[in-house]
Amino acid sequence: MSKADAKEYMVKKEPYYYPIGDEIDRYEAAYDVRMPIMLKGPTGCGKSRFVEHMAWKLKKPLITVACNEDMTASDLVGRFLLDVNGTKWQDGPLTTAARIGAICYLDEVVEARQDTTVVIHPLTDHRRQLPLEKKGELVDAHPDFQIVISYNPGYQSMMKDLKQSTKQRFGAMSFDYPEAEVESQIVAHESGVDAATAERLVQVAQSSRNLKGHGLDEGMSTRLLIYAAQLITKGIAPVAACQMALVEPITDDPDMRDTLGAAVNTFFA
Ligand SMILES: Nc1ncnc2c1ncn2[C@@H]1O[C@H](COP(=O)(O)OP(=O)(O)O)[C@@H](O)[C@H]1O
Ligand SMILES: [Mg+2]
Repeated sequence: MSKADAKEYMVKKEPYYYPIGDEIDRYEAAYDVRMPIMLKGPTGCGKSRFVEHMAWKLKKPLITVACNEDMTASDLVGRFLLDVNGTKWQDGPLTTAARIGAICYLDEVVEARQDTTVVIHPLTDHRRQLPLEKKGELVDAHPDFQIVISYNPGYQSMMKDLKQSTKQRFGAMSFDYPEAEVESQIVAHESGVDAATAERLVQVAQSSRNLKGHGLDEGMSTRLLIYAAQLITKGIAPVAACQMALVEPITDDPDMRDTLGAAVNTFFA
């Protein structure tokens, strides 16, 4: 691995991030000691954006892996590929990150099967090593390497959870949707919509978030609010934009759709 590879993964432009508390300081302290970090919180609340911002701020390469249940350990670590000259080893994203000293962000890690997740164990304790068993190589992680995982604890009871033996390798930071004033600013910044419209979108979202556990698995995320706002800036009527970006994506239940539709009408009709 050459220096050029690290360059490829650098975050070139500052990703806009509005700090909610002292999370930037806490992350920097954790990075200083290369503590593995888990970001917990509902979908679309700013976890990925935060990591991108921190990688930019710390001037470290960032390699993001979107985890899913079909992912195998080889997808993370690497595999032999066949080519004209026989077989050739290809590093997976985790191995690349360990070699070049990247921040490796495993997004929605609970989606991965537990036998996949365990490959990160030797990288997340004092060893900081990654055994490539098939290749017969033991990779010592670059001094800059850090591992960050994200997950949504809301899924936990329904589907799966991380093992304690995995969890207890990480420091944790909890994220949630920001307070209304801040969230409005974020929505306005990301979409270009005016402040009053952003505020009303946030009010719709807040009413949906109160329905979490009462017919809704999740309330409307900041991400969806930005989608709605973007549609509005393209000239879509607010009620229709909310229907498309806020209501329809989060529920298939006609009654719940009516309930959310009524909330939209309260603020936009
Ligand atoms: N604190 C924040 N500062 C800036 N943008 C934010 C913030 N929180 C959320 N966002 C916006 O919301 C979008 C969704 O956030 P994201 O980081 O993708 O969510 P998550 O990874 O938690 O699912 C981002 O693309 C960004 O536009
Ligand atoms: Mg994300």
